[in-house]
Amino acid sequence: MADEPMSSQTDTICLETRDLWFAYGDNPPALRGISLTIRAGDFVGLVGQNGSGKTTLAKHFNGLLRPTQGQVLLYGQDIRDRPVGELARTVGYVFQNPDHQIFSATTREEIAFGPRNLGLEEAEVQRRTEQAMEHFDLTEYADHQPAVLGFGLRRKVSIAAVYSMRPQILILDEPTAGLDWHCTHDLMERLTALHRQGHTIILITHDMRLIAQYTPRCMVLREGKLLLYDDTRKVFEHCDLLRETHIELPQVCELARELAPIGVRRDALTVPELCDSYADLIARREVTNAGGH
Ligand SMILES: Nc1ncnc2c1ncn2[C@@H]1O[C@H](COP(=O)(O)OP(=O)(O)OP(=O)(O)O)[C@@H](O)[C@H]1O
Ligand SMILES: [Mg+2]
Repeated sequence: MADEPMSSQTDTICLETRDLWFAYGDNPPALRGISLTIRAGDFVGLVGQNGSGKTTLAKHFNGLLRPTQGQVLLYGQDIRDRPVGELARTVGYVFQNPDHQIFSATTREEIAFGPRNLGLEEAEVQRRTEQAMEHFDLTEYADHQPAVLGFGLRRKVSIAAVYSMRPQILILDEPTAGLDWHCTHDLMERLTALHRQGHTIILITHDMRLIAQYTPRCMVLREGKLLLYDDTRKVFEHCDLLRETHIELPQVCELARELAPIGVRRDALTVPELCDSYADLIARREVTNAGGH
């Protein structure tokens, strides 16, 4: 997991969209006037029901798609004239399906491809490749053919192959889809470690438990519009609006609301938070009872 610390979270805006509209050909717009900013060092969850525009929006962040109208700015600069290959130095994009990315004969070659393509010295390419394999625990598969590895490993190879380019911003489109519980949390911990090193991470997912547990910020799309964008805890306050959008909060959040009348924190996001709040409540009661005798 070795890597130099990068800039920690600041007020610097790394990504911005201004009144972003996008339509695929003659189809109705998939994005309808999205204006948002993302701070360098943030870990943002991007959610919304199928077809709400998550992938379409994310592909604008690294120039894979270009606005029909409006602007995308990277560190304050409009990216309209910047080629995808150059943007990839700063914004890494991990595709929804790992098999759309993997093509090399070995895992090592797959992960080396990006940094080599950036024109780096071979020693630096090797250094980054080894480090990316180490971070994602892939070293033992270095000489394996990635296309025949299990799905969880293919997923990690596809992420390591983007991470090895050391983009400051890392966008992952449903990286845990199809992974079991263990692989999901293993991957989320590794992404959290990258966030702690200073990377900005944008995570697209349908799993609100992951948002609750891992991403401090959350944006919600509905029919191509930005419905909510705030700290995750604040976004989760809008449970009726989310439910209308067919986004279900984790059951523990529902339980916290049910238990709020007895004094448990209403906005608990995870089981440990709810348990801690309940333990506090019991402790307070014991103190009160002891004081009464
Ligand atoms: N290549 C394409 N050509 C035409 N329409 C497309 C294309 N890709 C997406 N769309 C349409 O654009 C809209 C937004 O799609 P998008 O894939 O961005 O949604 P999403 O939120 O990522 O959905 P999912 O959760 O299913 O991945 C949808 O109406 C979709 O049908
Ligand atoms: Mg998508």
